[in-house]
Amino acid sequence: MSDVSRAVRILRSGGLVAFPTETVYGLGGDATNAAAVQRIFTAKGRPPTNPLIVHVADESIARRYAADWPAAAAQLTQRFWPGPLALVVPKKDTIVDVATASLPTVGLRCPDHALALELLREFDGPIAAPSANRSTRVSPTTARHVREELGDAVDFILDGGPCRVGIESTVLDLSTTPPTVLRPGDITARQIEAEIGPVMVFRGVTSSSVPAHSPGQHARHYAPTAAAYRFDSRQIPQVADWCRENLDRAWAVLSIEPLGLDPAAADLLPIVGTSGRGPAHKFVLMPNVAPEYARCLYATLRSLDQEGIDVIWVQMPPDQPQWAAVRDRLARATKPLDQAGLK
Ligand code: TXA
Ligand code: MG
Repeated sequence: MSDVSRAVRILRSGGLVAFPTETVYGLGGDATNAAAVQRIFTAKGRPPTNPLIVHVADESIARRYAADWPAAAAQLTQRFWPGPLALVVPKKDTIVDVATASLPTVGLRCPDHALALELLREFDGPIAAPSANRSTRVSPTTARHVREELGDAVDFILDGGPCRVGIESTVLDLSTTPPTVLRPGDITARQIEAEIGPVMVFRGVTSSSVPAHSPGQHARHYAPTAAAYRFDSRQIPQVADWCRENLDRAWAVLSIEPLGLDPAAADLLPIVGTSGRGPAHKFVLMPNVAPEYARCLYATLRSLDQEGIDVIWVQMPPDQPQWAAVRDRLARATKPLDQAGLK
C-alpha cells in the first residue's frame, strides 16, 4: 500500500496524519469527525476556542462545505489556489463545530503541494489541519520537526521534504465587508486587492516597542524556547552593549544586514576562539529578501533552541508590505527589547 493510501485509511478511521504543505506541515484529521478533530486539539494542547483551517483538494470540494461561496471566493480561488491563501466563509453542518471553535464560518484552503493534493484527492473530503506543532511553539517545516514536536501523538507522518514557503498561509475573512486579512502570509494584501478590490488588514502589532497581541483572536506565540527579543536599527548599540555584558550567556543575534557586531570586530574578539568552551555566541545573517527569510525562519529558531542558545536577538525587517508576514511572526515570537531588562 502506498504511503498516501495508508494515510487515507488512518484518516478514515479517525486517526491523525501529519502531511507537508507548501507553508508548514499540518496535523490532519477528518473535519467531519468530531472525535478525530478533538484529538488534534489534544495532541497540540490547543485551546478549543482557536478554529482550525480545513484543507480541500480544489474549489469544487470547498463549495461542498461552504454554506455560501461569494463571488470574491470564486475569483480568489481561480487566481491563487492551490496556494497559501485560506478563505473564511460560512460553513455547512458537515464540518463539525469543534473544528471551527463553534464559529458559523470555516477557513478553507487548498495547499500547493503535490503530496498534500494527492492525499486530499484520495481522501475525497475535508481535512482539518493546524500546523503540526505543540500550541504556541514554532511551526514545523520538515517531517523531522513534526516527529520532535508530536512523537506518538501523530499516527503517521507523510514526508515531503522541507516546506517551500516556511510560514503559515494568508487568512482572508470573506464574511466581513470589505474582507479582512486576519493573518498575513506569502500572498500579500496587495495581491488580493488586485483581484477583488479593497480589503482591511487586521493590524497585528509589529513595532519593536509594543508587545504583540491579536485582538479578536487568540494571543499566539510561535515562540522558540529561548528568550527572544526584537530590536530595530536604532537599537543596535543597546544590543551590542548587552552582548558585551553577557558573555557568560549563550546568545544569538539574527539580522538582515551586517551589524558591525561581527565577532571579528575588535571589541567582541574575546568571544571567538573559545573553541567550543563556554557559552555560544552567534551572529546569524538572515536573507534580506522576505520569501527567503520566511522559508528559513522557523528552522533557524528551532536549531538555535537545539544548540542551547538561551537568548535570541532579532532585528526587525523594515515596515514594508513585502515584510508584513515575517514581521507578524517575529512580533509573536519575540518581546520588545525594552522587556529584556536593559538599562
Ligand atoms: O499554512 C497554513 O494555513 C497551515 C498549513 C498546515 O496549511 N495551517 C494552519 O492552520 O496554520 P491553523 O489551524 O493553525 O490556522 C488557524 C488560524 C486561526 O488561528 C485563525 O487565525 C484562522 O486560522 N482561522 C481559521 N478558521 C477561522 C474562522 N472560522 N474564522 C476566523 N479565523 C479563522
Ligand atoms: Mg499553528
